[in-house]
Amino acid sequence: MKVLGISSSPRRLGNSEILLDRALEGARSAGAVVEKIVLNEINFRPCQECGGCDKGGVCIIHDGMDAIYRKIADTDALILSSPIFFVSLSAQAKMMIDRFQCAWTAKYVLNTVKSPRKRRGIFLSVAGSYRKDHFENARQIIRAFFATLDVEYAGEIFCGGMVKALDIGKDEDAMNKAYAMGKGLIESDE
Ligand SMILES: Cc1cc2nc3c(=O)[nH]c(=O)nc-3n(C[C@H](O)[C@H](O)[C@H](O)COP(=O)(O)O)c2cc1C
Repeated sequence: MKVLGISSSPRRLGNSEILLDRALEGARSAGAVVEKIVLNEINFRPCQECGGCDKGGVCIIHDGMDAIYRKIADTDALILSSPIFFVSLSAQAKMMIDRFQCAWTAKYVLNTVKSPRKRRGIFLSVAGSYRKDHFENARQIIRAFFATLDVEYAGEIFCGGMVKALDIGKDEDAMNKAYAMGKGLIESDE
């Protein structure tokens, strides 16, 4: 079973990426083949709303997203992590998600997605403040994204009070939960 992790923070080895790594470790411990994409290191453009996907349900821009489309189509489960930036996802995460407008068109307009595979996904997020409402927008966006891909929203971890890059290391509960969730993605699929 393949598990794809997508890290959306511009800060390497910051809180959300560490949490993602822990979840991937859990998945690996249960026998998954895991891969991680760091969005900030991929060269791609935001959706141009060009209508190029209106007829075929496929994006006509060819850039770093080509590999991401392939990897997401190929994975059995997805774990996405993002910091909260201005009460939403990071720009990197939102930019990738907008490029899935082609998948939205295929599913909801063209109706060309027949019997999609059952797949599950997890959302991990961190924020500087302790305000729970700061995660709400991000959750809604990820739910819509997962629904577009027919990925079941199987779990979430939201950690407030994460300011410095390694703060997440002090949150043993979150780290353990991430490991268990990653592992659970595989075990409950067997
Ligand atoms: C541009 C920017 C915007 C931010 N906006 C918020 C916010 O709206 N609410 C919040 O609680 N924290 C906010 N933060 C703090 C980050 O969510 C926090 O530092 C987080 O730990 C970063 O995650 P990372 O280490 O994975 O990059 C913001 C940080 C930056 C750089």
